[in-house]
Amino acid sequence: MPPVWDQRSAMWLAALLTLLLCRSLESHGNSFTINSINMQSLPDWTVENGQNLTLQCIVDISTTSHVKPQHQVLFYKDDVLVHNVSSVKNTESFLIPQARAHDSGMYKCTVLLNNKKKTTEENRLRVTGVSSPRVTLDKKEAIQGGVVIVNCSVPEERAPIHFRVEKFEKNTKTLKLKKEKTSLEQNFVTVEFPIGEQDHILYFTCEARISLGFQIETSKTSESDDVTVRESFSTPSFDISPTGTITEGDQLSIKCTTQVNHLARETPEIIILKDKTIVASSKQGHETVYSVMATVEQNGNYTCKVESSRLSKVNSTVVNVIELFPKPKLESLSTRVDQGERLDLLCSIPKAPPANFTIHKEGVIVSQAQNFTKIAEAGDSGTYTCTAGIGKVVKKSNAVQITVCGNISKPRIFHNTKSEIIKGHAVRISCQSINGTLPITYYLLKGSDVLETITKNSSDPAVFQDSPTKDVEYKCVADNCHSHPEVSSEVLSIKVIAPVTQVKLTILRNPEVESGKEIVLQCSVNEGTVPITYKFYKDEEHKPFHQITSNDTSVIWYKEQASKEQEGRYHCVASNKASVTQSSTQSSTQSNRLTVKIFLASWKKGLIAVVVIGVVIATLVVGAKCYVLRKAKAKQVPVEMSRPAAPLLKSNNEKVSEPDIEANSHYGYNDEVGNHVMKQPNESKADPMNSDVEYTEVQVTSADPQQVLGSKGTDTVYSEIRKANPNSVENRYSRTQGSLDGT
Ligand SMILES: *[C@@H]1O[C@H](CO)[C@@H](O)[C@H](O)[C@H]1NC(C)=O
Ligand SMILES: *[C@@H]1O[C@H](CO)[C@@H](O)[C@H](O)[C@H]1NC(C)=O
Ligand SMILES: *[C@@H]1O[C@H](CO)[C@@H](O)[C@H](O)[C@H]1NC(C)=O
Ligand SMILES: *[C@@H]1O[C@H](CO)[C@@H](O)[C@H](O)[C@H]1NC(C)=O
Ligand SMILES: *[C@@H]1O[C@H](CO)[C@@H](O)[C@H](O)[C@H]1NC(C)=O
Ligand SMILES: *[C@@H]1O[C@H](CO)[C@@H](O)[C@H](O)[C@H]1NC(C)=O
Ligand SMILES: *[C@@H]1O[C@H](CO)[C@@H](O)[C@H](O)[C@H]1NC(C)=O
Ligand SMILES: *[C@@H]1O[C@H](CO)[C@@H](O)[C@H](O)[C@H]1NC(C)=O
Ligand SMILES: *[C@@H]1O[C@H](CO)[C@@H](O)[C@H](O)[C@H]1NC(C)=O
Ligand SMILES: *[C@@H]1O[C@H](CO)[C@@H](O)[C@H](O)[C@H]1NC(C)=O
Ligand SMILES: *[C@@H]1O[C@H](CO)[C@@H](O)[C@H](O)[C@H]1NC(C)=O
Repeated sequence: MPPVWDQRSAMWLAALLTLLLCRSLESHGNSFTINSINMQSLPDWTVENGQNLTLQCIVDISTTSHVKPQHQVLFYKDDVLVHNVSSVKNTESFLIPQARAHDSGMYKCTVLLNNKKKTTEENRLRVTGVSSPRVTLDKKEAIQGGVVIVNCSVPEERAPIHFRVEKFEKNTKTLKLKKEKTSLEQNFVTVEFPIGEQDHILYFTCEARISLGFQIETSKTSESDDVTVRESFSTPSFDISPTGTITEGDQLSIKCTTQVNHLARETPEIIILKDKTIVASSKQGHETVYSVMATVEQNGNYTCKVESSRLSKVNSTVVNVIELFPKPKLESLSTRVDQGERLDLLCSIPKAPPANFTIHKEGVIVSQAQNFTKIAEAGDSGTYTCTAGIGKVVKKSNAVQITVCGNISKPRIFHNTKSEIIKGHAVRISCQSINGTLPITYYLLKGSDVLETITKNSSDPAVFQDSPTKDVEYKCVADNCHSHPEVSSEVLSIKVIAPVTQVKLTILRNPEVESGKEIVLQCSVNEGTVPITYKFYKDEEHKPFHQITSNDTSVIWYKEQASKEQEGRYHCVASNKASVTQSSTQSSTQSNRLTVKIFLASWKKGLIAVVVIGVVIATLVVGAKCYVLRKAKAKQVPVEMSRPAAPLLKSNNEKVSEPDIEANSHYGYNDEVGNHVMKQPNESKADPMNSDVEYTEVQVTSADPQQVLGSKGTDTVYSEIRKANPNSVENRYSRTQGSLDGT
């Protein structure tokens, strides 16, 4: 609109003139105000990548002046100043040619007039899309196993940019490989792609993505030029000779070949495998050969592999060899042959074509014929095989294990202790057969039961262990592979001694014994092998007062007339053979301690009382007599002593019997051997009341009847005649004796 422009130019000129003319006036008295400020984008706030874009700031200012005031307009992007202009116009523009993704952002503008300032709101500018990337390749022709370097760039844009590069097969348009990479500094990436066996003609595509805060902008997909892939080596192929049917005995050759491209960086390795076993290989050249005489063993699937560091190509073929004759068979009537019996081996092939046979034992030829027969010896045990050969083809048979069994010798049985053992102790019984093929099985019989079985693979003895509780008989039975039935050893007898247990000392009747009555002590054991030695001890004496060896589990010690001397604590000790060896359990053979008390019979107490009274009376009588005599002397009256002074002793039950030897021994408890203790108490000859104590009635007649009033009768005094000393009858004494003699 040229007219508008002309009009404006005129206005501008007028304004300039006004400005020049009234400069001093304006700077002083005029006032200004900013009414509004607005921002707009042309063509829009959202534009496509590559479009030309203009941002405008429109200012409305009121003034008293006739000329438009000069003001500053500032453009900001994301709070950063991007454009600064001084102007008197209402509208200021900021041009962005070919807007790019990085131009997106928050824009605003500010107007400054003297010290007054006004700013617009922030406006979002959106640039959609990303400019198309450029894809370049380092080569137009590639080799299998090599690489192609792809450069993808977007020069118009700024990093960070995320790239996606993809490899495609041209003919099939199939995606082969995808790689993604983010470039933080530059606006391009280079990506390496390997070239594989299956690649023929390739192209690459690239796509760029830029992230702008909340939005992601994506470019169009660009495509590269084509790359032609050349083979570095071909898939291997087989060459098998002879062609056609292959028969056993033929020379078989399996050759594997490959073509190698002269551009290839490395020579591949060629390997022939038969069921995972490498049979031939080569690291140089283009082929490898497996050459062997054909047998049915060579039948199977052969694989040829050609391998470089990155590539591997495989082909496979099946080889079929026709069998000339089947494998020979080695047979024996039995694999277990007794020594001295016939060993018979036969090697044969079905349909029996003529062939050369050999029979081997562990690598040594034992027969050049089809048969092998001999009388078996111990050394003939082993593994046998045979071979059959027709022409060049030789075949090996199965293996046959032959065991030649030597007769087993009668086993020896022996043990580690004496023929007697203590109950509970272990005994080790050994069995050994000197001769006989191993392994030998030994059975240990205890009585008629099999206690244990041991199989020995050496000629060492088999050792069994047992702890018998009573007398036993052991026997060994040995057996091996020989057809003869098992053989038995001699019988081994072992005696078992039981140690004495629970020794007990008891007293028959009451442990409180009346003086003069019998003491019967019994020492018994609960268990123990006879003969048992019993020892009786009193108090703390070290020597036993009685000792006896008996076949019984209890013995008795017997004392006819107990006296105070027999009072005390008794114990007994029992022992047998086992106790002697078994010193640790010695304590168990000692009995409990038994206290025996002897008390005086009541009649004895009475007797003592009577004796005392008698003595008192006698003293009184004698005293009285003396008194009367003195009186008579004083009166000068002579008194005739007509009567004997001693009292008349009259024994009416005195038994002066000669004590026999047996009776004597009852007192002999100090003797080492009391050979009577075995006697039962009822065996004792006499009634203890009669035999031990004898009574003597003593009549004491008063010397003077006048003196003793009313005591005219006879006083009976009992005299105890104790057989305290067995050696003499004279030892008998009367309790009354002392007092009566004292007259
Ligand atoms: C943008 O402007 C340039 C010159 O400033 C011009 O050559 C170009 O054609 C314009 N592009 C578009 C899309 O208008
Ligand atoms: C704009 O430019 C003027 C002169 O060119 C300068 O004096 C002023 O400081 C600038 N404003 C800003 C905000 O940078
Ligand atoms: C990739 O291409 C861009 C532009 O085409 C170039 O600037 C850059 O140097 C190239 N990079 C490489 C590694 O060749
Ligand atoms: C595999 O080997 C056979 C026989 O040599 C050949 O005919 C065939 O082409 C080979 N296979 C490939 C894929 O080369
Ligand atoms: C031979 O072996 C290869 C590899 O194990 C296998 O791929 C192929 O199918 C086999 N061929 C036959 C006929 O079994
Ligand atoms: C081998 O044994 C078979 C049968 O036992 C017999 O018929 C044959 O004559 C024997 N051959 C030889 C060479 O001993
Ligand atoms: C057996 O061996 C002999 C001598 O080695 C040979 O001449 C003959 O042909 C062989 N027989 C067979 C059937 O292979
Ligand atoms: C064991 O065999 C040898 C010879 O084979 C023989 O002399 C010896 O008497 C045999 N011993 C027994 C215990 O049979
Ligand atoms: C094997 O030995 C047992 C005794 O050890 C003997 O009775 C038997 O006769 C022997 N048998 C042979 C075949 O020698
Ligand atoms: C016994 O010993 C022989 C050789 O020492 C061995 O070959 C065999 O396997 C052994 N047998 C057993 C049952 O251990
Ligand atoms: C105990 O018994 C054995 C045999 O039974 C006999 O020889 C020995 O005389 C006996 N001893 C006594 C003391 O009876």
